[in-house]
Amino acid sequence: LFAASALTGLAHAGMVDDAVKRGTLRVGMDPTYMPFEMTNKRGEIIGFEVDLLKAMAKAMGVKLELVSTSYDGIIPALLTDKFDMIGSGMTLTQERNLRINFSEPFIVVGQTLLIRKELQGEIKSYKDLNDAKYRITSKIGTTGEMVAKKLISKAQYHGFDNEQEAVMDVVNGKADAFIYDAPYNVVAVNKAGAGNLVFLEEPFTFEPLAFGLKKGDYDSLNWVNNWMHQVRNDGTYERIHAKWFKK
Ligand code: ARG
Repeated sequence: LFAASALTGLAHAGMVDDAVKRGTLRVGMDPTYMPFEMTNKRGEIIGFEVDLLKAMAKAMGVKLELVSTSYDGIIPALLTDKFDMIGSGMTLTQERNLRINFSEPFIVVGQTLLIRKELQGEIKSYKDLNDAKYRITSKIGTTGEMVAKKLISKAQYHGFDNEQEAVMDVVNGKADAFIYDAPYNVVAVNKAGAGNLVFLEEPFTFEPLAFGLKKGDYDSLNWVNNWMHQVRNDGTYERIHAKWFKK
């Protein structure tokens, strides 16, 4: 009897196994990150990462459930089982990797700047913002915030819960710059309208985005990484990428 239960214990194989038994893959995300996860006018969560996750759930033979979670609390929410995996445009940082496991990256991005139009010519790189007279914004709990505090530490920093509010402060001239991931800023600058913001589009950090899993769950990591390898080479990734990132 003891041996049998020990074997049952061994057969348990992590979150993918649980999702298959449950019939649902639960993914935690903060759907404010264009064009990866965002809410459309009908209230549906759509985007590049959402489509990748739909393909992943399909390959698993389960339904996809998106669990809206504020970005700031997303790692604690994974660790307390609010969902199975983080899929939220999360940068694989070494600091976060001490707390959770990451899949192979599904894209690489970097920090960029949206600056107040009056500062065109005056600010040519993040280094020019490193002065107490400048006010910079980003989103709480993100790498944008970490990079602002680390590389632009002399500027006055204000963190927002929502990317859109942080961008609006720059459009309205209350802040001088918004620091954030390149793909988000590409969409934001178009939304703001020509001439309302200046986009310094050259990324100045290296940020692989990956799915976050609980530590120790190597069976699920194996499944997700092998799935990633498959979709990267069978045209699935390319098709989804082309839909959201038009050249
Ligand atoms: N890549 C950045 C980070 O990991 C920002 C991600 C924001 N994601 C979101 N769903 N709002 O901190």
